[in-house]
Amino acid sequence: MTDTSTLALPLSRRLKTETQAAHEGLDGRIMASRPFHSRDHYALFLGMQHQFHRDIQPLYLDPRLAALVPDLASRCRLSMIESDLDDLGLVSSATKRGVALSDDLATRFGWLYVAEGSNLGAAFLIKEAAKLGLGEDFGARHLAASPEGRGKPWKTFQAALDGADFDRAEEARVIDGAVAAFKRVQTLAEDAFAA
Ligand code: HEM
Repeated sequence: MTDTSTLALPLSRRLKTETQAAHEGLDGRIMASRPFHSRDHYALFLGMQHQFHRDIQPLYLDPRLAALVPDLASRCRLSMIESDLDDLGLVSSATKRGVALSDDLATRFGWLYVAEGSNLGAAFLIKEAAKLGLGEDFGARHLAASPEGRGKPWKTFQAALDGADFDRAEEARVIDGAVAAFKRVQTLAEDAFAA
């Protein structure tokens, strides 16, 4: 359900506000499983990341999104996750069926928001990964900042969201897409850390 009290905010701010609870729930669920306790635990986290980024790979190839988001294709982290799996001698655990992504541009933008925003939290996660001897050159490549850093690509992404000129109905679909993406990752986290 859309929170009408956020209607006056730019879309990027609305997204943050309206998905805050979902983010906190996910963050809590993941950290409760102590993903950086050992490389074995980290492997479960990496499997979850692999499944999600495989789910959303089509977004990075969508020409409609590419026309709005600068450097879209180079933002995709799937190949880095696959290198991380290789580094650690892991076989892909992404055996589940992927999600059926909506074809609606606004909904897709919401899913992309969740993936792109997760690069901010990754600044914290890569520090934890370093304690396991992992980093941007080995095992935790996908948590590394891009060569431009984290702030600039995030600001360009937010500007793309806010500049897309979505009407109210489209904005609601962006938010619904982000909520659905967080739900998907929550499910993947539950599955990954179920044992
Ligand atoms: C595993 C534990 C996680 C922690 C500790 C964490 C932590 C954080 C932190 C500290 C920020 C804010 C950074 C800043 O404003 O500079 C952030 C932002 C964000 N994170 Fe996470 N995160 C985690 C997992 C995830 C996951 C798995 C996803 C989605 C796949 C995600 C999606 C996001 C999004 C979308 C934002 C941007 C919010 C906004 O400013 O609009 N996070 N995270």
